[in-house]
Amino acid sequence: MSEHHEEMTKTTPMQVVIATVGGLVAPLIAIFLIIQLVLGIQATHVGEDADGAQARAVAERIKPVGEVKVVDASAPKVEKSGEEVFNAVCTACHTSGALGAPKHGNKGDWAKRIGQGYDTLVKNAINGIRAMPARGGAAGLSDAELARAVAYMANSAGANFSAK
Ligand code: HEC
Repeated sequence: MSEHHEEMTKTTPMQVVIATVGGLVAPLIAIFLIIQLVLGIQATHVGEDADGAQARAVAERIKPVGEVKVVDASAPKVEKSGEEVFNAVCTACHTSGALGAPKHGNKGDWAKRIGQGYDTLVKNAINGIRAMPARGGAAGLSDAELARAVAYMANSAGANFSAK
């Protein structure tokens, strides 16, 4: 019985070789498979990123030119004062005089324009005139907000308009 047992458990040199080779190869196969898996995952992610970047690039290309976002469209509309509208939008040109805009607080720039009357100035601010974009480029502004901003600017340069 004991002899038989010894026979069964005795390790032959061949078994040692097989065990050694197996012990080395199995982890190598495992590592190889893990690398394949990681590379596969990376490949799909890189693909997604490229798609996302492309989508963003397209959105960037087709977005409207000269968009000026003044109010969050989903937020309840709160009418701005003339000063607030000026500080949010009009100041971009009317503080520096960019594009030949009459400067805020500059009587010389405004005298002739004020002479046209408040209604004409408001109408021109709403519709735009020459280099002055309609609504100062801020389509979300209401007529009343523009009228207040016009009064705020013109009054800073000697007019005495009361905003509608
Ligand atoms: C992109 C620059 C720009 C912005 C922003 C802008 N303006 Fe002007 N604005 C101009 C220029 C340039 C003129 C002079 C146009 C002309 O007479 O040739 C002008 C002229 C005006 C005039 C005089 C119009 C007239 O009949 O003489 C008013 C009033 C006016 N802007 C109001 C506003 C108000 C109100 C805002 C803000 C809501 C605003 N502007 C924002 C450039 C701008």
